[in-house]
Amino acid sequence: MGRKKIALIGAGQIGGNLALLAAERELGDIVLYDIAAVEGMAKGKALDISQLLPVPGFDARITGTSSYDDVAGSAVCIITAGIPRKPGMSREDLLGTNLKIISDVAANLKRVCPEAFCIVVSNPLDAMVYAFKKLTGFPKHRVVGMAGVLDSARFRTFIAMELGVSVEDVQAFVLGGHGDDMVPLVRCCTAGGIPVSELLPKERIDAIVDRTRKGGGELVALYKTGSAYFAPAAACIAMAEAYLRDKKRVLPCAAYLEGEYGIQGCYFGVPVVIGAGGVERVLQLTLSEEERTLVAKSLQSVQKTVAETKL
Ligand SMILES: NC(=O)c1ccc[n+]([C@@H]2O[C@H](COP(=O)([O-])OP(=O)(O)OC[C@H]3O[C@@H](n4cnc5c(N)ncnc54)[C@H](O)[C@@H]3O)[C@@H](O)[C@H]2O)c1
Repeated sequence: MGRKKIALIGAGQIGGNLALLAAERELGDIVLYDIAAVEGMAKGKALDISQLLPVPGFDARITGTSSYDDVAGSAVCIITAGIPRKPGMSREDLLGTNLKIISDVAANLKRVCPEAFCIVVSNPLDAMVYAFKKLTGFPKHRVVGMAGVLDSARFRTFIAMELGVSVEDVQAFVLGGHGDDMVPLVRCCTAGGIPVSELLPKERIDAIVDRTRKGGGELVALYKTGSAYFAPAAACIAMAEAYLRDKKRVLPCAAYLEGEYGIQGCYFGVPVVIGAGGVERVLQLTLSEEERTLVAKSLQSVQKTVAETKL
């Protein structure tokens, strides 16, 4: 059996790191696509990473291109095409520009990769993944948004730093839209199976929740020229790998909801099972009244941005 093809649409900061991580995990052959004006960058990153692989000893064919012909037949498409935030911008400020870009990408992927599992990353995430699904007409199990894995990884990092323990032993997840009113679920956060509320005072947990919510902005303020890219790339790879290796991983992702959590016809961050069937299941848990209030606020923000897409 030949290697699967993985298309990375957008060969910028996240795209380049995706290529590196996917190659190092031998997930398949990789096509780095970007617009003609920066085709040299896509080709350059592909060549540079190809020349790295003999050192650790991994096999992957990596190509850079500005032609969708080379993308055709990919099993997985990860879409990072679009502009990132600069200091002072909200994710919603990207809507006008990135909606045009996502529309272009959707039209092309519908044509050349009608069977692919698609992971949308471009911001504002919940609206962009909604637009991509609507414009391609792909089924909901094959279109998912990346946000929760990243936001939960940030939450886990801060908890592990605070406790001075391994990140491996900290489990946590974040519910809701990919905005500053996302909902880190404190009661589901554990270190070695122990609820963190047993290990840390409430004010420290509150501070970590707040830092998690603003985690993207903290990076934008530090980088000044764009947003985070190492951790976002790793989060996408976890999702792509779960699909390609049929791992049935439980991951928080922006999934299209049709009644789950009382939400209808909208992408929203919830725990899902990802395996060979794509988004195979949405896992539902009973929320407390306080959590329901926070989720409702996050949903309102998502719906407002989606409405602005006028799709
Ligand atoms: N969902 C998340 O959790 C998350 C996290 C971080 C960043 N992001 C978002 O991901 C996106 C990419 O971030 P980045 O740091 O890689 O940005 P970047 O600017 O480094 O890369 C984006 C690339 O998209 C390309 N592009 C523009 N128009 C295109 C088109 N029509 N077709 C294909 N490619 C096109 C650009 O040429 C550029 O190379 C941004 O919108 C950013 O806000 C999302």
